[in-house]
Formats: sequence, C-alpha cells, structure tokens
Amino acid sequence: MTDSITLCRPDDWHLHLRDGAMLAAVAPHSAGFGRAIIMPNLVPPVVTGAQAAAYRDRIMAALPPGAALQPQMTLYLTDTTDPADVVAAYRDGIIRAVKLYPAGATTNSASGVTDIDKVRPVLEAMAEAGITLCVHGEVTDPAVDIFDREAVFIDRVLDPIRRAVPGLRVVMEHITTADGVAYARSGGDDLAATITTHHLVINRNAILAGGIRPHYYCLPVAKRENHRLALRDAATSGEARFFLGTDSAPHPDSAKLQPCGCAGCFTAPNTMSILAHVFEQEGALDRLEAFASLNGAAFYGLPPAEDRIRLIRRDRPAEYPTSITAGDETVTVFDPGFPLYWHLETA
Ligand code: NCD
Ligand code: ZN
Repeated sequence: MTDSITLCRPDDWHLHLRDGAMLAAVAPHSAGFGRAIIMPNLVPPVVTGAQAAAYRDRIMAALPPGAALQPQMTLYLTDTTDPADVVAAYRDGIIRAVKLYPAGATTNSASGVTDIDKVRPVLEAMAEAGITLCVHGEVTDPAVDIFDREAVFIDRVLDPIRRAVPGLRVVMEHITTADGVAYARSGGDDLAATITTHHLVINRNAILAGGIRPHYYCLPVAKRENHRLALRDAATSGEARFFLGTDSAPHPDSAKLQPCGCAGCFTAPNTMSILAHVFEQEGALDRLEAFASLNGAAFYGLPPAEDRIRLIRRDRPAEYPTSITAGDETVTVFDPGFPLYWHLETA
C-alpha cells in the first residue's frame, strides 16, 4: 500500500477568507496552499480594484510569517461594474478573475447580477482581455426546486452567456451535479470547473437524514448520491478541466445553528487529508496532484508551484480541531465522518 505521496504545493481556486477577526482566525488554516482565488463576497462586496488591493493587504497581514499563500483577488460583478475598471485592475496585476453571483443566490450575494444583459459589455471586455469569469451557477427563481437550480442555470444562463460571448473564459464554481460535470466536459479550453472537498464526501442525506445537520448545509446544496459519484469520477479523472476549489466558507456557529442558518462548510484545516482519503478510495492517488496542484494553475496560465508537500499515511488518524475560535465566536470544522489517516507534512 502507498504510504507517502509528494505533490507540487496545492492551490485553492475558490476560498472565502472573510475579514476582521474571522480573517485572522481562518487565514492561517489556508497558509499552506499556494495560489488561492479569494472570493469577494464581503459586506460590502469587493467591487473595485482599489478595494481588492486593500483586501489583499489585509490578508497578507493576517497570514503567519513564511506562509506560502498567494492571494489571487477577484472582483464582485454587479449590474453597474465598469468594463474599463475590470480590465485595468487585471492589467495592473491586482485581480486574477471576476466573480458572478446571481443576485440572491448565496451568502452576501444581494449586490449580484440581476440581469445578465446588464453585464454583457463587461463580459465582452473580459473575453477580449482574457479575464476569467468565475460563476456561481444557480438560478434564483423561487419556482425552481433548490436541487435543480444548478442544472437549470446551465440551460437558462450559462450556455446562453457562453454563446453570446464567445471566447469568454469561464470557471463553473463548485459544481455539484452530473449535469455540471457533463457541461464542463462539453466545452473547450476556455471552460473549467472547480469541485469542493465536501461535495466529494457528502450527499444530501448528510444534511437531512436522521436529523438536520446545519454544518453540512452549503450552497450549492449537496445533491443525490449519483451526483456525488459523478463529481468523484470527474475529480479523480485527471482531466485538465477539473480542479480543486475548496469553497471553504467559515461562519460562526451562532449564525449556522439558527432556525434560518447560513450556508457554508469550513474545510480549510483538513482538506488535503480528506482529499487523499477520497483519491485513495478511488484508486487514484496518482491523480491527486493533477486535481489539487496542476490543473487549476494551467487553466489560469500559471506555472505549477516550485515547492512540494508530502502526505503520509499513518496507522493513527490525523488530529484536527473540531472547531476554531474567531474573536468571540467558534467556527466548526467540516467533519468528513471518517478517520483521516493521511497526515500533511511539508517536505
Ligand atoms: C459561501 C459563503 O458562505 O460565502 N457559502 C457556501 O455555502 N458555499 C458562498 C458561496 O460560495 O456560495
Ligand atoms: Zn464560495
């Protein structure tokens, strides 16, 4: 049995670090990743290049000395985003991508796009400049069942956008369905998809069967088992279009454990141990590096990391905290529901 694997340092192509006390608490848990796409859904959202640069400075200040993490900033697309601002922020090296949240689709998305026609000039400028659009792919139409919102988004919104703006580089963020996998596979080099750690582990039963478990509630919500299996197939396939975006999304327990609790799983601390477990189960440990360290960088036109990490399989499980402290609050760490024998060491 393989008991040790060495990988180029992994990147996280979808990460929430928040701000203030929460940023200070969670940033050290992502410090061992290389590049990380930082989500802009702060309150208020990060909408200008200047705000992205200032946020980057706050992240750097929150990281421990010697941290590997290189924040890759994003702008939050709104109905009034100025195409010239986006292109300038990209050319100045401030941002790596732009994030599309349909208004109301998820946490802090109230300022998101209400009508895709309003942002068409921005998307055209992005296609021209080669700037990636990271897409939260769920419709918000209350008439659409929550478990269908990703599949309907692909038909109603994503495919029309890609036809209307040829050449636009798109990442389908945190896909959760076989439909998402199939659509990602239908595209060319300008289309990719991130997959989270937790969607490889849980299906919707984890949230709802035998009692309601708010710590497994995230958006897009976990789907049926056949969809989880499609995600595992995609992630472990080695195909260049699929790569890791943890969507590690910390919330205080006081906000999750409510009659109306918020969405997000905090997976930063144990992600690599969980992924090694999943890839080993699938007989695909040799493809973990493609998923976690190589494919995303290649899509974004970046070289692989020069340094390496090592995962070692031991007889005793790795110990992770069940929760961390953020200011006066606690944040629960994602519990995969099985012991984690893969220990992360820096080589
Ligand atoms: C994210 C958050 O908390 O910011 N929540 C989540 O459930 N994934 C937002 C998001 O990525 O949808
Ligand atoms: Zn997210």
